[in-house]
Amino acid sequence: MDSHHVNDILISSLEIETRVDELVHEIAKSTSTDNLVLVGVLRGSFMFIADLVRDFNNHGLHPRIDFMTLESYGAGTTSNGNVRVTKDIHVDVTGADVLIIDDILDSGRTLSFAVKHLNNKGAGSVKTCTLLDKPSQRVIDISSDFNGFSIEDIFVVGYGLDYDSYYRELPHIAKVTFTN
Ligand code: IMP
Ligand code: MG
Repeated sequence: MDSHHVNDILISSLEIETRVDELVHEIAKSTSTDNLVLVGVLRGSFMFIADLVRDFNNHGLHPRIDFMTLESYGAGTTSNGNVRVTKDIHVDVTGADVLIIDDILDSGRTLSFAVKHLNNKGAGSVKTCTLLDKPSQRVIDISSDFNGFSIEDIFVVGYGLDYDSYYRELPHIAKVTFTN
């Protein structure tokens, strides 16, 4: 890894908690299905999805939950453009209303791949929920149905997001500053 630090908090854990709560309300308001399946994109979504679903029951939402692992990034901070499934879901989503949960929408390659992948499996509908969005970086024209925060084009870690597999455990979103 290049020398760097992650001292600057961009989004605090309290801000995340508040926004996650709002997102659950938004999702509950626009979701009336008894066949909801949440699909978390690993590994970046693990903390976000865990916090999101905690309050689902109180909002009358009873999803099945599964995960799939998609990979497109190497050890660095830029996408190589190719997305592939390295671990697929196990639940049958035929006819189901699927909500894909991902950490961040950047070029859009990962999320658009995920949407296609779930549609190909016969989902009745596919929506998306992301914690972060970097709209300036979009290569593929896609937007998220539910998004936590829009951010500038900076590299961030924490709350599930990594730099070379590190920092996923941080309870907040921090900016990565590269130093010499
Ligand atoms: P996309 O396919 O370019 O939209 O990239 C989405 C994926 O890139 C996310 O699921 C993340 O794994 C990764 N990614 C993009 N930006 C960042 C960042 O700032 N920090 C950590 N991971 C990122
Ligand atoms: Mg990811």
